[in-house]
Amino acid sequence: MLFAGQETIFASQKSVIHSESRGHLALHAFLSPPCCGIIGLFVPWMTTRFRIEGSAAMPTDIKFLGHASFQIEIAGKTVLIDPFLTDNPVASTSADELSADAIILTHGHGDHVGDTVSIARRTGAQVIANFEIVGWLNGQGIENTHPMHIGGSHVFDFGTVKLTIAHHGSGLPDGSYGGNPAGVLLTTDDGTLYHAGDTALFMDMQLIGEAGIDLAILPIGDNFTMGPDDALRAVEFLRPKRVVPVHYNTWPVIEQDAAAWAERVAQEKSVQAIVLQPGESTEL
Ligand code: NI
Ligand code: MN
Repeated sequence: MLFAGQETIFASQKSVIHSESRGHLALHAFLSPPCCGIIGLFVPWMTTRFRIEGSAAMPTDIKFLGHASFQIEIAGKTVLIDPFLTDNPVASTSADELSADAIILTHGHGDHVGDTVSIARRTGAQVIANFEIVGWLNGQGIENTHPMHIGGSHVFDFGTVKLTIAHHGSGLPDGSYGGNPAGVLLTTDDGTLYHAGDTALFMDMQLIGEAGIDLAILPIGDNFTMGPDDALRAVEFLRPKRVVPVHYNTWPVIEQDAAAWAERVAQEKSVQAIVLQPGESTEL
């Protein structure tokens, strides 16, 4: 409530500053041109200052739902990434309890497409995925979709989504072709998040890191994806401010010691690793 109140005050102050500044600018343009330089510096400074304080009141909240599933709250919108809950032994919630405005899928495997069809059907959420997965969803009666592909970005009302390469498979649960797997770069007013999807380590993570990543979500489970050693190198290539390990401990075959990995990330790469238990959140 405190934050909500502050947001309102900042919003009204911002509009007052804007309208007064416009008036002064118009006046000075006629009366004393040299003053415009000072006001020209002052107005962007005030606007920036209040935008920063306003966004601090509503940070992007990133909740781990277990395995590689996330629920992200951005500016009043709920965005799910890879919502796999029903058959997920470590899921923190059931699919029926989730609301969603948008669902982003990294690839077609069952532990990523998960409950997308039922959630999209119930909530009407728009599903964002590669062209082939979107075609498969349309065939199941999910019409509110947005097809994309690797290298492309698109501006949505919650932020900008860009699909990046990932080295993996993407076959759909019924055996249909699911195109190529992807990672997701999501840029909001609060910063940039990179969900690597399921992938091996690759050198082009250096290129992806040039976007300036505030939070990287990386698989560490080994067997199907990068293991701890390669994920450590991924941190080196991506240079994120913080990193969250995922895709481990869901089943015995991908068992890992995430706390030990987080310690290595801090010691060897000087990057903060945040180990989230299913149901826990961090901020962007
Ligand atoms: Ni996969
Ligand atoms: Mn997977």
